[in-house]
Amino acid sequence: MPDVGRDYRIIGFLCNWCSYGGADAAGTARFSQPTDLRIIRVPCSGRVDPMFVAKALLSGADGVLVSGCHPRDCHYSEGNFYARRRLEMLRRFLPIIGVDEGRFEYIWVSASEGSRWRDMVTAFTDKIHKLGHMPRMTEPAHTLCVLEGMLGQSLAQPDMGHSPDGHPAGGNPDAASEPRLPDWSKPAEADATGKENGNG
Ligand code: FES
Repeated sequence: MPDVGRDYRIIGFLCNWCSYGGADAAGTARFSQPTDLRIIRVPCSGRVDPMFVAKALLSGADGVLVSGCHPRDCHYSEGNFYARRRLEMLRRFLPIIGVDEGRFEYIWVSASEGSRWRDMVTAFTDKIHKLGHMPRMTEPAHTLCVLEGMLGQSLAQPDMGHSPDGHPAGGNPDAASEPRLPDWSKPAEADATGKENGNG
């Protein structure tokens, strides 16, 4: 029983410019914070490949938190928009591979929001504690391979939905539509040439 009594492992991918500063501000202000989080600093939330999250969860992490700059504050202009698109898709696929989607969250925290950081990381950590330790999978490598294929196919589709503030990415906020996921229960359709399309 390797999980009994072990500490929780929660991984936090934090963008260097905003969220890492927010976590630092929380520490400087001496806010009381959970000790389960292990921070990995990245240049931008857009650098976080969804497979990083999946690999962490299937390799022993009990939860993964990604945090970046608020919408329109990304220091690389659109990194958090790209992150939001990929990570939202990942969240929807997690239950398909047998992972509770509550084990993953992405949030926006600026460098001046130490108290917001404390509140969000405390809430996420509490949720992971309630969920318990991440169950071990029998074939994590195969599961990751399947997930990578599903994500690659879905992210190749052009119309994926919203920007980080809830608006369609780069479009009219009034034209909001839910991201379209492939219907994996149906076989691939054939186009007019008889060539098979991908699902969805
Ligand atoms: Fe922070 Fe891009 S620099 S999300």
